[in-house]
Formats: sequence, structure tokens, C-alpha cells
Amino acid sequence: AESAEVATTSAPINPSIKKDSDKVVDTVLAGELSKPLTAYCRCWRSGTFPLCDGSHVKHNKATGDNVGPLLLKK
Ligand code: FES
Repeated sequence: AESAEVATTSAPINPSIKKDSDKVVDTVLAGELSKPLTAYCRCWRSGTFPLCDGSHVKHNKATGDNVGPLLLKK
């Protein structure tokens, strides 16, 4: 089996979101989703975290990464 490549950097994944918290946790009540489709950020670069604002596009272009949002469908 092919093993996943392990990151060799110790840099934080999260550069700026809620850095005063020990751990960033967000809860979504599935029954309260208002739109048919909601995009949640997984790149930690969104200005509207935990929602995706498209910042992953710039991050991917700058770094060669391939991250994108989690889509929740109602
Ligand atoms: Fe982070 Fe889209 S802005 S996944």
C-alpha cells in the first residue's frame, strides 16, 4: 500500500484564525442549515471562517496545494 506523504514542516496549519483559543472548534446544527449548499473552509485562509470565501484558490496557486471546502448539502 502507498503511504501518505507526511508534512515535514512544523509550521502551524492555521495562520490567523482565533489564535487566542487553545483549539478552534465549530459546531453546525444540520437541521439549521439555511441554504441548499453551504461551503465550509478547510484551508484555514478564509476571511469568513468557518465558511469558505474562496481564499483557497489563492492559497493553492501560491503554494501548489490542492485544498478546497467541505460542502454540506441540505
Ligand atoms: Fe478555505 Fe475555501 S477559503 S476552503
